[in-house]
Amino acid sequence: MDIRCLETTGVAAAAGAPGGWEGDALALGVFAGDDHPGRAALVERFGADLGALLEQRRFQAKPGQCLSIDRLGILPSTLIVVGLGEPAGFDVAALRNAAAAAAKAAVAAGAGHLGLELPVEGLEPQSSVAAMAEAVRLALYVDQRFRSDPEPRNELAQVSLLGLPAGAAAGLAGLEADCAGVELARGLVASPPNVATPLHLAETAESIAREFDLELRLLDMEECEALGMGAYLGVAQGSSLPPKFIHLIYRPAGPVHRRVALVGKGLTFDSGGYNLKTAGSQIEMMKYDMGGSAAVLGAARALGQRRPEGVEVHVIVAACENMISGGAIHPGDVLTASNGKTIEVNNTDAEGRLTLADALVYACRLEPDVVVDLATLTGACVIALGEEIAGLWTPEDRLAEALVSAANSAGESLWRMPLRSSYREGLKSHVADMKNTGPRPGGSITAALFLQDFVARDVAWAHLDIAGTVWSDKGRGSDPAGATGFGVRTLVRWICAGAPS
Ligand code: BES
Ligand code: MN
Ligand code: ZN
Repeated sequence: MDIRCLETTGVAAAAGAPGGWEGDALALGVFAGDDHPGRAALVERFGADLGALLEQRRFQAKPGQCLSIDRLGILPSTLIVVGLGEPAGFDVAALRNAAAAAAKAAVAAGAGHLGLELPVEGLEPQSSVAAMAEAVRLALYVDQRFRSDPEPRNELAQVSLLGLPAGAAAGLAGLEADCAGVELARGLVASPPNVATPLHLAETAESIAREFDLELRLLDMEECEALGMGAYLGVAQGSSLPPKFIHLIYRPAGPVHRRVALVGKGLTFDSGGYNLKTAGSQIEMMKYDMGGSAAVLGAARALGQRRPEGVEVHVIVAACENMISGGAIHPGDVLTASNGKTIEVNNTDAEGRLTLADALVYACRLEPDVVVDLATLTGACVIALGEEIAGLWTPEDRLAEALVSAANSAGESLWRMPLRSSYREGLKSHVADMKNTGPRPGGSITAALFLQDFVARDVAWAHLDIAGTVWSDKGRGSDPAGATGFGVRTLVRWICAGAPS
């Protein structure tokens, strides 16, 4: 899909004025309120019949509401009126949703070239362009890899963002890289667990390394054993698939000012182990328990293509499955992590933190300035924040601010949660240094506190619990139903801003 920016407006284009746009579908935004001047302007452009039609169809201009009007024999042959809601609530996030809705309407109308004219007055032009373009591309993502007879679909070949100030086009700079990163993550998360195995994640890292000239270190079970990764290998030992420890490195061309480690939970399937997941616990969805690893691999791909200056990035995934077998860990086993800490496994279903413990120790030994981990860690976080918002835990206020602001500009939502140190009590064990599972109340907080024990004191650290956000049953905004690719855009924006902490 080719996406470009033009200064031409939809009126000029529709009137056949020179300006280089001659598409077959034109989408125009309208704010709510019958007396809003934008509506009158639209009627003035396209005639009283359009006004009457909007009345007749009871078009209220609710956010994302679209009305497609076919115009036989004239270009543009489809006019799409896109609702923008109340002007007071209109921001870049609303712009994203409107662009996504318009793109879907254009595909439904069979358009090949969409002209999209949405108001950007009062918004930052480049971020507006980035938001619209990302939304169009990502909303139209479809995954039919696992169908024997894929449905034929209309392809939107070209999109022109109309009526934009000169210079706004710079907002398209990272578009291809970022969207391809999100799509890579979505594809991995949506792959069934018999396809997206630990080996498959390792091979994906290999192909990213090859294509974008990144350095790759792959550690097999023996090498992880030699490093003393007893927590990670304890989880892996119940599976007949070998674990793969992935370390992918992006080195910028010039001098390095910041060194960052991104750690992703990579459970390619989480059965719960002997604390087996029961009915209603979504065991059949636990292919998405590698959403953290998908996000960091997607970010690696995007960064490899964008090649930001000054920041060195280490992407780390301790990939494995949590399964049941005669060799699997027992509830009650004591494991020793690579920093020497002993862990009583009072629940085999709290396996993500065990794998992350050794991954975080490994990451901190690289002496980065900052480590960010992403994990589908707890059902408790889903209960707390739902599908749209990921939890953020960090002791560092500046890092929290930087990540929240990167997320906002990426159209993703983070909410900072407390690292209440008194809750550490819940992880006390009678037999080992700590248990892996605290009480049910505050379960996502004790999970974060557990991870903190494996982070070196002099490394800034943040943990994102993305259990609710990696998958969307119904789809929303620019996320079609299914895997969202959550985290990629936040990470890439944060790192391209210099990874502040
Ligand atoms: N992968 C799950 C968390 C999860 C649950 C993600 C639902 C997405 C949706 C994790 O490994 C897990 O099982 N966590 C347990 C922890 C508990 C045993 C302390 C949970 O949340 O129930
Ligand atoms: Mn689990
Ligand atoms: Zn899990």
